[in-house]
Amino acid sequence: MKFLQFFVLPFLMVILSVSGANLARHPHRDFLRCLSLRIANSSTITYVHNNPSYPSVLNASIHNTRFSTPTTPKPYAIITPRKTSHVQSTIYCSKNHGFQLRIRSGGHDVEGVSYVSQVPFVILDLVNFRDVKVDTKNEVAWVQSGATTGELYYGIASKTQTLGFPAGICHTIGIGGHLSGGGFGILGRKYGLAADHIIDAKMVDANGRVLHRKSMGEDLFWAIRGGGGNTFGVVLAWKVKLVPVPTVVTVFTVNKNLEQNATKIFHRWQHIAHKLPNELFTAVWVMKVNSSQVGKKTVQASFKGLFLGRIDELIPLIQYAFPELGLARENCTQMSWVQSVLYFGALPTEPVEILLNRNALPRLSLKAKTDYIREPMSETGIEGFMNMFLEEGTDFAITMIEAFGGKMDEIRENEIPFPHRSGILFESVYIVQWINEEDAGLCINWMRRLYSYMSSYASKSLRAAYYNYKDLDLGTNNINGYTSYEQASVWGLKYFKNNFKRLVRIKTMIDPMNFFSNEQSIPPLLSP
Ligand code: FDA
Repeated sequence: MKFLQFFVLPFLMVILSVSGANLARHPHRDFLRCLSLRIANSSTITYVHNNPSYPSVLNASIHNTRFSTPTTPKPYAIITPRKTSHVQSTIYCSKNHGFQLRIRSGGHDVEGVSYVSQVPFVILDLVNFRDVKVDTKNEVAWVQSGATTGELYYGIASKTQTLGFPAGICHTIGIGGHLSGGGFGILGRKYGLAADHIIDAKMVDANGRVLHRKSMGEDLFWAIRGGGGNTFGVVLAWKVKLVPVPTVVTVFTVNKNLEQNATKIFHRWQHIAHKLPNELFTAVWVMKVNSSQVGKKTVQASFKGLFLGRIDELIPLIQYAFPELGLARENCTQMSWVQSVLYFGALPTEPVEILLNRNALPRLSLKAKTDYIREPMSETGIEGFMNMFLEEGTDFAITMIEAFGGKMDEIRENEIPFPHRSGILFESVYIVQWINEEDAGLCINWMRRLYSYMSSYASKSLRAAYYNYKDLDLGTNNINGYTSYEQASVWGLKYFKNNFKRLVRIKTMIDPMNFFSNEQSIPPLLSP
């Protein structure tokens, strides 16, 4: 007994207290141990900060360099799963060892929320989930979340010239985040959003259950089609319906600057663009350019279009509906639909293999905001807007103004969570970019002033915004702890309008403990 009391028990207590302290002080080590117990050779898919590949794996898909500075919080580990069971294990171990999980597909989140967090976190990077299987007979494709839109477009085009998919313009955006938030692109007026074409999905929820459309039920299936990523679970793959495209399409660009009546033509465009035939998508890109007077700058409105048909049909159509544009044959080029994606991405249209290059675009720091405009702006309003591009901090600023109408008008606001449909003339995506970190303040201030200027023209009762271009200025969840419905409504209603309430209800059902969360994820009603 004495032996037990004086030798064994103290010894045991020391061991227990040391391992207890370890538990308390080394959640990192326990997280890794947890992964290694559940995944064979887990070290081959896990990158912790002392791993030589950690920086390259982390930076591989950071598309906003605003969030890759030395002071940006870094994940404890990045896990690049190869199997569904790896995803289940990562969820289990993060949950049990107190790490927040950030899911990353293409890494284009404009607020960096797929790879930055203010609390201890790990990244689940779906870079190895990038299969694209196209079934031309049934006009569908299964695409994994870590594939890019470019890989999907390429996968379709390498099998058929008569099918396409209506998703975003930039070919490096990830399917996972893009489809989770909507996905508008050059086929949008003809067919609607990428998310309107999802017909099945495979996801893993917070309890590690693998769900498909049938097993998840129609509520959850509704929510993941535009209700935002990193809220309901990890979507591993999507089954999408492809859409018909002609073998030859026509693209055009007409540039007009302030000295060439850009303001007047833009004013006219707003009255016409949403009423044009669904086969014709047009957009206006506004940016600062060199003027013809040496050393001076001007502002250019670049009128761009995609017509699902040939030049000979397009020219008379525009000459009748929008003669002010002065569209001429030399402004137009015929090409395949898949080449038109590259054209809108301001890239060479050949070889189309560029679509497979995830590094084809320069990476800068950026801040974005969005608006949905229902009433045409006055000519003086447009002039004021364009003149703001002559201010400081606008060297890499662009506003992409994209016509709505067509199919977008026909889809009900509550069909999927993305609610911005009937009656919208155009979506404005304001982007300001910079190269040197010290310009960040100047550029972001300019963006906020531009947004404030546009408040007179944006939807009056509720200033709506597009979730796929997150804007944390609109409000955020509390970093640690409970966020009330009222608090989240401030930004939630802007993104989702009346669909926000249903999203909260579904979130409460599927993830009541709020395991999947980020600054603007949907909060459950009674999160801890
Ligand atoms: P990322 O990997 O950063 O994920 C974005 C969000 O979704 C994060 O919250 C993330 O956690 C979550 N998420 C990612 N994968 C998930 C998964 N598998 N399961 C659950 N959650 C997941 N939009 C548009 O509609 N049309 C366009 O033309 C463009 N063009 C464009 C160009 C550029 C240069 C940028 C930076 C952005 C766009 N966008 C856009 C916006 C784009 O659609 C949006 O940023 C997408 O969320 C990007 O998806 P990623 O997978 O690349 O991002």
